[in-house]
Amino acid sequence: MTRDPVTDAGRFAVLISGRGSNMLSLVNAARAGRIPALPAVVIANVAGAQGLHAARDLGVPTAVVEHQASANRREHDGKVLEVLREHDADLVCLAGYMRLLSPAFIAAYPGRILNIHPSLLPAFPGPDAQRQALEHGVKISGCTVHFVDEQLDHGPVVAQAAVPVKDDDDEDLLSARILEAEHRLYAEVLRRYYLGHLVVSGRRVRIQEPADE
Ligand code: GRF
Repeated sequence: MTRDPVTDAGRFAVLISGRGSNMLSLVNAARAGRIPALPAVVIANVAGAQGLHAARDLGVPTAVVEHQASANRREHDGKVLEVLREHDADLVCLAGYMRLLSPAFIAAYPGRILNIHPSLLPAFPGPDAQRQALEHGVKISGCTVHFVDEQLDHGPVVAQAAVPVKDDDDEDLLSARILEAEHRLYAEVLRRYYLGHLVVSGRRVRIQEPADE
């Protein structure tokens, strides 16, 4: 794990494509000392991503690596990897990043890429997970933080939070309720990651309690 040369803390990067509320929740949790690591850089693949302004306001370094400027996924990912290296990031957190990662990207950060998804995976992968949950009629949905592999919303599950689906929910109401849970869950997973509490064995990830150590 890369450590910050000055503070000896881990350094996480957040990749976004839009609003960036999960990114903000991670940055704020780190700043408040709830995650023992520093936000190294926020990278967006869309120049107008709303979250970029918020990150800049908080003094977090930002970069834009537009995917349209590259001929293919591998080339784009190569540019993103360069930025991650420039900022000494040791963990990559996808947060509303609307791109599949190339095998070369995943190989560059083995076991060190996380994503958050607004459903209880493996139910409702892909876009519009909250709409899929409503259309299917489930009574409980939620969110999942998982390690990223080459398939969409597929890698080992680290943690999940359940959220009730109410009879009068629409997509916005359900999304807002799940989002609150996302903000809590992602920050808690990063805290545990940097405390060294995640134990990965194949697809199974155990969160070790300090008493287990
Ligand atoms: C979240 O619901 C996240 O789970 C999904 O995309 C949304 C991003 O929201 N992958 P935000 O940009 O973090 O506000």
